[in-house]
Amino acid sequence: MDITRPKILCVDDEPANLKILEKLLVSNGYEVLKAKDGEEALDGIVKSMIDLVLLDVMMPKIDGFEVCRRIKRDERLRNIPVIMLTALSATSDRIKGIEAGAEDFISKPFDQGEVLARIRMLLKMKTLNDRLNHAYDEINMMTNFGEASIQSFDPLNFAFFSKVDAVVEHIIRKAAGTFDEPQLVIVGAPDEWQAWQWLQYEYVSSKLNSLPLNLDLRQGLNIPARSRTVFYNENDRDQPEFRWFVETLAGAGIAVANMACYLSKALCIFAVNYGRDVTRHDASVLNSFVMQTLFLKSLSGQIRETEHAFEYTVYALARASEANDEDTGNHILRVGEYCSAIAAGLGMPKAFADAICLQSTLHDVGKIHVHPDILKKPGKLTPEEWAEMKKHTTYGATIIGEQPRLAMAQRISLSHHERWDGGGYPNGLKGEHIPIEGRILNIADQYDALRNRRAYKPAFDHQTTCRIIIEGDGRTLPSHFDPDVLRMFKESHGRFEEIYEKRKD
Ligand code: C2E
Ligand code: SIN
Ligand code: SIN
Ligand code: FE
Repeated sequence: MDITRPKILCVDDEPANLKILEKLLVSNGYEVLKAKDGEEALDGIVKSMIDLVLLDVMMPKIDGFEVCRRIKRDERLRNIPVIMLTALSATSDRIKGIEAGAEDFISKPFDQGEVLARIRMLLKMKTLNDRLNHAYDEINMMTNFGEASIQSFDPLNFAFFSKVDAVVEHIIRKAAGTFDEPQLVIVGAPDEWQAWQWLQYEYVSSKLNSLPLNLDLRQGLNIPARSRTVFYNENDRDQPEFRWFVETLAGAGIAVANMACYLSKALCIFAVNYGRDVTRHDASVLNSFVMQTLFLKSLSGQIRETEHAFEYTVYALARASEANDEDTGNHILRVGEYCSAIAAGLGMPKAFADAICLQSTLHDVGKIHVHPDILKKPGKLTPEEWAEMKKHTTYGATIIGEQPRLAMAQRISLSHHERWDGGGYPNGLKGEHIPIEGRILNIADQYDALRNRRAYKPAFDHQTTCRIIIEGDGRTLPSHFDPDVLRMFKESHGRFEEIYEKRKD
């Protein structure tokens, strides 16, 4: 099918007139469809993609004015230009025609040169109009795409390739009979091992289909350090780059008429075989989509990096607090893991489990301010020493400060020695007044402290530790713990032992 040949519908009840018009138009490169009355005309115009209508006024059944009115009332058809063929000097007909929405008039008997000139002018106008409407649609689509991208943006779980799929989904031709979009999209990008992967996308029975393409299209193309966007049409075949592209794809069984592409060292996208000439606008639409995607990718990378730096800093600070403990950094890692196991067991969201795993590592950061002689004292503490020791909770809250990202760590530092029965410190909080993260940490911290040797105590095995926590030993009592957290510990103490064994000092 030659889609560049404009289709003109000629409507006249006189076969002789139709013949003359047909001869003239066909010999000037137009495709001609004919209708002998209004009904046939409306039928034909809906069924075929008509570019222009030449409409006689005088017809039986529905006259030309009514046909024109119906065309202009129809959302899908109103952009098709209508030229009315009127009798010479019939001014009232012209007024009626203008009211019916006709774009132009030709008086009969007509001058062939005039007919052709007016048709050319109106077709040009229609093309510009179509492009303008199409550009509006694309701006809308891009805005929607951008909005959706930002709303669903999850920087820590950003999947670049699924975003590329979404871009392809937006630019590719989805249905037979439409021509504005490319029929084929080819995407190339390096995978996580820096090996370039190429995919070709096409709509097959209304589903987006992607197949690996066994070609590296970077070879014959100039890929600049930054990026470039180019487009080529059929008559650019003498350009070496486009010729190379056409020949290479021909070798893979793909016939190329035109293309727009975005080329960079991080991503190449080719939009191939638009059903019309490709324009600068198409190239810039492609460029905008790619830019949005690369922007989100880079943003996601930066956020991930910041997140890693944040985690690293939290661990570094947590390790600093242990300088005077006999523990190595493994105590803080184990406590984090017990906490996230309890949180998961209690059905808390994964985000909470992840946060407590990281932020619980700061629970004893306040010990930095407690004198090493107290921390390392082999025996029981004097009342003064104990009063100072208990302050590690509030010292920690001060060190961590009011940073919102560390709000949980601050609550944990302050509440990890509170007891469910109200007998803990520093505030003697009771029951649910103690933040849940503090209640979870209290059991996790004690399990690990009991398992390890301290200056003031020997190490206990798993059984002994469980007995102290579950049954109590006088110092520790079951009433100290949140009953839900204690039940969770009873159900999952095996997991505690696993974590301890895995990360033994
Ligand atoms: P830590 O050594 O990390 O112990 C944390 C918590 O585990 C203790 O909080 C306590 O609830 C529990 N725990 C530790 N060892 C035992 C034990 O032998 N039996 C029982 N039933 N529970 C134990 P707590 O009591 O609030 O102590 C907070 C911190 O104060 C301890 O952290 C430790 O650094 C220090 N501390 C506590 N008692 C002594 C002591 O007698 N001598 C010295 N030098 N330091 C002590
Ligand atoms: C289009 O995308 O239909 C074409 C172009 C334009 O608006 O210039
Ligand atoms: C201690 O004085 O060593 C601890 C007292 C307590 O656990 O309340
Ligand atoms: Fe503590």
